[in-house]
This record gives sequence, structure tokens and C-alpha cells, in this order.
Amino acid sequence: MTKMKVTPWEVSGKIDYDKLVKEFGTSLISEKMKGKLQKTHPLLRRGIYFSHRDFDKWLEAREEGYKVSVITGRGPSEKMHLGHLVPFLVAKSLQDIFNCDVFIPISDDEKFYVKEKLDYKDVLKYSKDNILDLIALGFKPEKTFIFEDFIYTDIYKYAAQVAKKITYSTARATFGLKPENNIGWSFYPAMQTAHILFPQFYTGKKHISVVPVGIDQDPFIRLTRDIAKHFDLIKPAALHAKFIPSLYGAEKMSATGEGVIWLSDSPSEVKKKINKYAFSGGQASVEEHRKKGGNPEVDVSFQYLKMFFEPDDEKLEKIEKEYKSGKMLTADLKKILIDKINIFLKEHQKRKKDAEKIINKFILKN
Ligand code: TRP
Repeated sequence: MTKMKVTPWEVSGKIDYDKLVKEFGTSLISEKMKGKLQKTHPLLRRGIYFSHRDFDKWLEAREEGYKVSVITGRGPSEKMHLGHLVPFLVAKSLQDIFNCDVFIPISDDEKFYVKEKLDYKDVLKYSKDNILDLIALGFKPEKTFIFEDFIYTDIYKYAAQVAKKITYSTARATFGLKPENNIGWSFYPAMQTAHILFPQFYTGKKHISVVPVGIDQDPFIRLTRDIAKHFDLIKPAALHAKFIPSLYGAEKMSATGEGVIWLSDSPSEVKKKINKYAFSGGQASVEEHRKKGGNPEVDVSFQYLKMFFEPDDEKLEKIEKEYKSGKMLTADLKKILIDKINIFLKEHQKRKKDAEKIINKFILKN
């Protein structure tokens, strides 16, 4: 196995999450904190989000009646798959429960710089498409602010003020910039820092924001927490997620191969992919499975139910028990997952169409 590498633009090797928490200096989500998150999305209360910075302060501020907000973004390099939804499902859940504003920057510039083959027109097309997917999740229009770097150019004045406070050597050290990278890579961190401080810039009210992200994005959080002092703003909090496995198992879900559920997939594509590719924790034969039972820990279908599709704790526990005991076969488990995904996608695809009509309520104007 190759050595672990986790940066915003490259994730490889076997991921050791405890080591990341130590190296990055973040905190594990405590049991006490989990107690306060019982009604939130399974991703948050069942441990996919495992680490944080100052999220205890965010919760306390809200409890005491202060303004809080959520900010998380999307780099639109392609159409969206299930794994891409992770921070947004959590953002929506925090909005529902804590009734707070959600800010969603779309970093089309980032993907344009970083993806060699992505041209300007295509990235704009993906932005529009991805924004519709995000609106389809059901955010509240009056409390949700979506903006795209190439379109909402007002962001530039904040990025410039931030850029002046970041030296080239800090950017290089924080993001591992390479000599052959175009200079867009070195400016982009100022944009993302401006995104993360944007809730305070835009509302003119100092308050604590939380940024739900994959742990690979933590360098941006560290940088922003450091920069906040120059503007007399409150350091943002963060919630860090583990990587979501592809259907094949362990590695991060990425856009290669068939191991991904696209939000545009049809029921028959979903059925085919899950049956063919979803890594099974079951035994080689039915007889053996009945005797020894399956292993839900490594079973991707079970893990997807746990993370996304079976919010009811009792029902999930029942499935887990039956699978472990051998009473439930892999094929039964897959059937449950296929049906759940297809119900979700049917509804999602309909809402995405409807999103065309209400998109203006969400998009910030210059
Ligand atoms: N860089 C993020 C990604 O590639 C997207 C992003 C843009 C973002 N702005 C952000 C994430 C602000 C969190 C906060 O996925």
C-alpha cells in the first residue's frame, strides 16, 4: 500500500484518521457533542463526521441564542455523485435543526485552474448543473445563499484583501504548491479563505460559522482561522468527514469507473451497479453465509444504508443483526439498498427539474 497522502487536490494510500487528527491538530467529536446531535443527519450522528474544530463553541453559541451559520462549497468539475452530497446533506440538516443561514460558494475558478483538461465553458455548465442538484436537496430559499466565483465577482474584493495577508511561502507550505503549477493555484487559497469568511463579510455581523468538509480540506480551515484576526472576525469552526467508499470498497469515491452512483442514474443502472459492484461482506456460498453470517463493517451496501439511506436506528440495527447472523443474505441487503436509492433518486431528479424555476431565489447578485 502506498504512503498516505491527504491534500485538497490529492488523496492516496491507506488513510489513518487518528494520525490525521494528530497531524492537523483537530479534535475528535466527543460523546457529549454527539448527545446534542441526535436529530441530525446520520452522516453526523453515526461517525462519518469524526473530527472538528470549535464545533462545541458553535453549538454553545446557538444554544445561547446567538447567530451562527454554515458555509460549505462545491468545486464543479463534473456532474454530481452521491459522495459529493455529503457536506450538503449535513449543511441542510444543520439548517433544519438550528434554523441558520447556509452559504454555498461554487469554486468554478478552482477546478478550472486545477483540472488541466477542463475548459472555461464546460466548468460554467457544470456549475449550473451542480447548483440545481444542491437546490434539489431542499434548502430554505430565504436562508440559503449560493454564489459562483466566475459570476458573483463581488467575491473578488474580499479575496484581494485576504490575498494581501497571505505570503507566497505560506501558500506553498500549506498547500504543497509545485513549481509547474499555474499561478491560479497560488491565488485560489485567497478565494476559498474569502468564501469561508464570507458569512461575516456579507452580513456585516461577527458570528461563528461552521464548515462541514472532507478532512482533506482542513488546510483551508487552518489558513482561514489564522487570517480571521486581520479582519477582527471570529475564527470559523469545522466539521471533518472521512472519505466515502466507492462501491468497490475501501478507497475514496471518485469519478472513475462504475463504482459511483450518479445523481442522474436510472433505476436500472442503480440496480445493475449495486448488484455487480457493491463490495459484499457476505460469505462465498449461501450455506456458508447461513452458518457464519456477513460482516456489515466492510459491506458497502450496509455502510451506504448506515450513512445515507436508513435513518431509523431500530431498523438499521435489525438489518445489522440479521446480516451478521446469516439470516439475511447479501442479495436481500442489496435489494433493500437498491430500493432506497431509487426512491431517493426519483424524488431528487424531480426536485432538480423544479429547481430551475426557483434558482433565482438562491443565487446572490453582484
Ligand atoms: N475546494 C472545495 C472542493 O474542492 C470546494 C469549496 C469551495 C469549499 N469553497 C469552499 C469547501 C468553502 C468548503 C468551504 O470540494
